[in-house]
Amino acid sequence: MRFGYFDDDHREYVITRPDTPLPWINYLGSQTYFGIISNTGGGYSFYRDARLRRISRYRYNNVPFDYGGRYIYIRDNRAGCFWSPTWQPVRGTLDAYTCRHGMGYTVISGTRNGITAWIRYFVPLDETLEIWQLTVTNGRAETADLSLFSFIEFCLWDAWDDATNYQRNFNTGEVEVEDDVIYHKTEYRERRNHFAYFACSEPLQGFDTQREDFLGPYRGLDNPLVVERGRSANSITTGWVPIGSHHVQISLEPGESRQVIFVLGYHENPKDQKFDPPDSQRINKQTVKPIIARYLDPAQANAAFDRLHTYWDEILGVLQVETPDPDTNRMVNVWNAYQCMVTFNMSRSASFFESGIGRGLGFRDSNQDLLGFVHQAPQRARERILDLAATQLQNGGAYHQYQPLTKRGNDAVGSGFNDDPQWLILGVAAYLKETGDWSILDEPVPYENEPGTEQPLYEHLQRSHRYTLERLGPHGLPLIGRADWNDCLNLNIFSEEPGESFQTAPLKMDGTVAESIFIAGLFSLASKELAAIAEARGLAGEAARYRQAAAQMETTVWQHGWDGDWFLRAYDAFGHKIGSHTCQEGQIFIEPQGICILAGMGVDDGRARQALDAVHDRLATEHGILLQQPAYSRYYVHLGEISSYPPGFKENASIFCHTNPWIMIAETMIGRGDRAFDYYKRINPSARESISELHRCEPYVYAQTIAGRDTPRHGEAKNSWLTGTAAWNYVAITQWILGIRPTYQGLEIAPVIPSTWPGFRAVRKFRGVTYRIEVRRQGPGNTVSLKLNGVPIHGHIVPLPSEGTREVTVEVTVE
Ligand code: GLC
Ligand code: GLC
Repeated sequence: MRFGYFDDDHREYVITRPDTPLPWINYLGSQTYFGIISNTGGGYSFYRDARLRRISRYRYNNVPFDYGGRYIYIRDNRAGCFWSPTWQPVRGTLDAYTCRHGMGYTVISGTRNGITAWIRYFVPLDETLEIWQLTVTNGRAETADLSLFSFIEFCLWDAWDDATNYQRNFNTGEVEVEDDVIYHKTEYRERRNHFAYFACSEPLQGFDTQREDFLGPYRGLDNPLVVERGRSANSITTGWVPIGSHHVQISLEPGESRQVIFVLGYHENPKDQKFDPPDSQRINKQTVKPIIARYLDPAQANAAFDRLHTYWDEILGVLQVETPDPDTNRMVNVWNAYQCMVTFNMSRSASFFESGIGRGLGFRDSNQDLLGFVHQAPQRARERILDLAATQLQNGGAYHQYQPLTKRGNDAVGSGFNDDPQWLILGVAAYLKETGDWSILDEPVPYENEPGTEQPLYEHLQRSHRYTLERLGPHGLPLIGRADWNDCLNLNIFSEEPGESFQTAPLKMDGTVAESIFIAGLFSLASKELAAIAEARGLAGEAARYRQAAAQMETTVWQHGWDGDWFLRAYDAFGHKIGSHTCQEGQIFIEPQGICILAGMGVDDGRARQALDAVHDRLATEHGILLQQPAYSRYYVHLGEISSYPPGFKENASIFCHTNPWIMIAETMIGRGDRAFDYYKRINPSARESISELHRCEPYVYAQTIAGRDTPRHGEAKNSWLTGTAAWNYVAITQWILGIRPTYQGLEIAPVIPSTWPGFRAVRKFRGVTYRIEVRRQGPGNTVSLKLNGVPIHGHIVPLPSEGTREVTVEVTVE
């Protein structure tokens, strides 16, 4: 069953009924001001940091869910009835409803009794504000006399404090209302130099800023007293709960439309110019007023929207493909690319599943996000790499995450995840291949954000490498530490305390025994990347050492990390195998099969094929590939969080979508395009659209997990949007199945596509040159030959064209 459809030409997903299985959300904002918005207007906004600068309030895990948002109430003043054109929060019947989620904007339109309200929400580029463009149209045969009420609930900046510290917060709320603009200034009197504002383009009939006066006692957002009676209370908050609501009265002739614009924004004043007059406590509004005036003007608002559109044209234009498969086309051309940008911007902070207060930017996560994002905005990728590297520890380890506002590492979600440092090498390598900007390696970057500790970025990579070599266990495999990629494989924690966090609990074991074959694979892969970097810098000796380290690790894996038919997962703190046929549960794990083969292990001698066949036989389901099997049926104290989940969920044998593309890539490396693509389609959200009642999450973006076959909810997705799944699927389909990948020497084109495909076309912009690529299948295999501008060339790589070349054509034959 579907709840909408893809409008590919407009790059929109159109939701046709409001009661989707879960809120289907979208993101507003591109640089510093962001928001999430659901298909019923739910969500919130923040400046830079979803925890520390939350502008509007949202109630996570409320009933009904998705409560708090950017709401408009429409009241028919003659009939005395009211509704929400976004359906929530009133949830009355609408005669027509659509929600169009597009690139950085959402348009929701609702009709009731002949009155249509169309609302476009977006954040202009380079501004710290959002625009709600509302157009109300009277489709009735008689004049309509309407009241419009806007509604936003202000958050008191620190979202964690806001949700917990009522003894203080019910006393601090302050607002100003001046020239019909509502200013939210809680804590502005003291250490904050920022405030929020909410403005409306029409003269007001009234306003409210005190929640209780707007709602009336013991009422909810579905039934506010002010809207019911059609008159604002003109309330001014002192303490309690600041909100913003405007009341606009309009009369529309039959067929007439009216546009009303609302602007919600964030603004900072210099510390010594906060007040006007200076000795008062009133906000100095001199610099914000022109901004407000500008965007209340419809022509300016439209122009800002057009600029946003152009921005996305340019970003998505870096790679466009035309394959025989519509699900592939729309994910690659639009939605997967878009999700990569969103994950880059948000890391794992704010979604319907991430509250914005728990996690900042993850070291491992953000480095992986780069893989799918770097071609879209290399300059921003560069900045991110340097920020991440600055949170690296002196010993090469890493803070597991940092807060985007302060850019400082914190231990809130633990540290000592021994895979972390290797991801920095992969992130940097992807950046270098895309841009050829070798200067980044010489950038001085501090450790632990400590001024004075700066070393060139290249030195950071070297320390990443050494970090693993200095932490090898009894078999010569990397020690796992707190965990590796699998945050929940906690082999040194032995937690017995209810509710204790596996990420921050003290280690019970000294950590010198438990080893990870996953890190071994990752280390080999990263060491080869580092070797290539060293080589390109002319450091042949160093390059040889890195290659040697990779080879040595591979030898160790074959000695101690191969189970006979597949790669083992780990050794526990007693030196026992995990992920072996000798185990009772958890006999085979997906992660080492993927990553070891990505590192090249077994590709030439049949063992990669063997491992992948085992994956196919034991882990593949119609909904995707399971993380491990058999699922853990009970809690094992020596395995940690993985066994805390009921079988079939999360790390305990769900389809952890992040890992599936590793298998797709591995399949292409041994030439099995049909199987790679088959796996790709199983989790491609667009391909799952027709089972939306089962899948439940948005059909336009990947979710982190799909429930595994050990639970009755098999096939149900959870935790959509902010997941490494976005970047890795993008890499798998574009770089390995379609086979278009940046290298140091030029653009490599080596597709491993399904045998039934006659070919495909692609346009890729790479280092200032547009590559027009036409792939034709002429035989059943994967042998590739290239012609550059009509002339045959040797190998798979189109060499970097000479200076001044703007465009080339590449004909690719696959046989
Ligand atoms: C989550 C984390 C990621 C981790 C994965 C597996 O997606 O964000 O860092 O690798 O879970 O545990
Ligand atoms: C939990 C989740 C895991 C996530 C981790 C991050 O363990 O199960 O997916 O990566 O938290 O801290």
